[in-house]
Amino acid sequence: MERRTIGAGALAVGAVGLGCMPMNWAYSTSRQRGDESLRTVHRALDAGSTLLDTADMYGPFTNELLLGRVLKERRADAFVSTKVGLLVGDQHIVANGRPGYVRRACDASLRRLQTDVIDLYQLHRADPEVPVEETWGAMAELVRAGKVRALGLCAVGARARRRSGARLHDATLRQLERVQQVFPVSAVEAELSVWSPEALEALLPWCAARGVGFLAAMPLGNGFLTGTLTPGEGFEPDDVRARHPRFTAEMMAANQPIVAGLRRVARRHGEGVTAAQVALAWVLAQGPQVVAVPGTKRARCAEENAAAAALRLTPEDLAEVSGLPAARGSWD
Ligand SMILES: NC(=O)c1ccc[n+]([C@@H]2O[C@H](COP(=O)([O-])OP(=O)(O)OC[C@H]3O[C@@H](n4cnc5c(N)ncnc54)[C@H](OP(=O)(O)O)[C@@H]3O)[C@@H](O)[C@H]2O)c1
Repeated sequence: MERRTIGAGALAVGAVGLGCMPMNWAYSTSRQRGDESLRTVHRALDAGSTLLDTADMYGPFTNELLLGRVLKERRADAFVSTKVGLLVGDQHIVANGRPGYVRRACDASLRRLQTDVIDLYQLHRADPEVPVEETWGAMAELVRAGKVRALGLCAVGARARRRSGARLHDATLRQLERVQQVFPVSAVEAELSVWSPEALEALLPWCAARGVGFLAAMPLGNGFLTGTLTPGEGFEPDDVRARHPRFTAEMMAANQPIVAGLRRVARRHGEGVTAAQVALAWVLAQGPQVVAVPGTKRARCAEENAAAAALRLTPEDLAEVSGLPAARGSWD
């Protein structure tokens, strides 16, 4: 698979990584399958998807434990990205950016992952009660201690937190400028997909200008862009899509022209090319520092997604995909 580099340390990873969240978090728990998830991680690594993206809160903790079972045997094949800063409480998810907590959380992640170093340690969310420089400073200490190789900042969730009228990533850009004064940012993880292209406006250019890697989260639009979901099918209550404004039956039906456009482009590239692969190839074409992180718990899908790294869209294809109708259904 094509390799791409992340950040000042020039860490090389496969252009398509593996988002491990659906194995233990956010999507319907009744569909989680531990053994199939293990096979999925192995299959992704076999296909060159070296970047495994997890977080201590996925599960919580169970996703790191699952990856630890693979890393114990195949540490050299993988690039591990995990996250700190969010805790799952009884009722709510809370941020914790206190330095002492960050140090303890890192040691716990290392134990669960069965490794002695995390390749990319990401701040999942800044804690409003703690200056972000303090949290980031504690993370930088972990690099100096050899427990972590590089630092990243997540901007996923900005859509739901945006104040009306503000540009989507303005607050993230301010945060990035602040932490960059303390220790270099190697990667930013943010939503980027055909139906959520806002990162192209200012966030991706910020990364490109500084040689910072960009991890494209939710590149398949939480599954919608694969064209395998049926409007009105419904989601179980513990599935994020049950509350997502773009996943009502009405909005899923209204957004079908986007899927139709991806399928049209896929057909031009021959039998077996899928809408999901076109969606991923479009994300990868947005810049040489972009790494797509599609999530799946199915080995077959990990293989299909990895193969998207070899799909070369023409300038006409890219223009056609970029020109598809804007998504309907908003968080505002
Ligand atoms: N930093 C953050 O705060 C943050 C937030 C959200 C996500 N992320 C990261 O970004 C990754 C990707 O986001 P995501 O997983 O939410 O969304 P996504 O990649 O846009 O879509 C995942 C969904 O698509 C399905 N899928 C994947 N490949 C498929 C294929 N080839 N054909 C048909 N269906 C397919 C998966 O189903 P199955 O699982 O059933 O295969 C899953 O339901 C996450 O796993 C996580 O690592 C980070």
